[in-house]
Amino acid sequence: MATRTQSKSKTGSQSKTTGRSTAGSKSASTSRTASKPASASRSRSSKSQNEDMPNSKFHQLFLDGLKDIYWAEKALVKALGKMQKAATSEELADAILTHQEQTKEQVSRLERVFESVGQTAKAKKCPAMEGLIEEGQEVIDDTDEDSAVRDAGLIMCCQKVEHYEIATYGSLRTLAAKMGHDEAAQLLEQTLNEEKETDVLLTQLAESSINEEAAAE
Ligand SMILES: [Fe+2]
Ligand SMILES: [Fe+2]
Repeated sequence: MATRTQSKSKTGSQSKTTGRSTAGSKSASTSRTASKPASASRSRSSKSQNEDMPNSKFHQLFLDGLKDIYWAEKALVKALGKMQKAATSEELADAILTHQEQTKEQVSRLERVFESVGQTAKAKKCPAMEGLIEEGQEVIDDTDEDSAVRDAGLIMCCQKVEHYEIATYGSLRTLAAKMGHDEAAQLLEQTLNEEKETDVLLTQLAESSINEEAAAE
């Protein structure tokens, strides 16, 4: 069943070099025109914040979050491959395979998010996802091959991953929207919806048959 369609390379959809400078490019050098620290006085007027965003700590937080989830998605492409091979039931294996393909697209989509805010995609290790992936490996190590219990365990791990992603994409989407990065917000929302759908699908798989079979083993 592992009919891998590995043709879709992650560079495929991002090769357009639209040097879109949504604000990031010209920011670094020329921004410091006013020398006052403008901290306390700023808090009252939140309307015209957007111009200052690219250099702000808030924007930095957003970029750090993007780097974190970019690392996580790339790590997941590999991890899902392992889980897919380890799954017992065909339905679960298929669902994981589908989500692996989706995850590859999400990596590309993240590259477009970076691009839309004038940044090059960069990954920063995500310890949370590293831990969740490790848990998936533990389930594989600790359960019998061809058992429904293994599938139940894999679903649990996958759902932990989805919930982490849902939290991350939901927050990043909200930050992007707040800063007026509309394209980024829209792309992040698209992935957010895919993660939510995957979570629902996993619940359905568990509840429709897998948990029952696992209980009977
Ligand atoms: Fe994802
Ligand atoms: Fe996911």
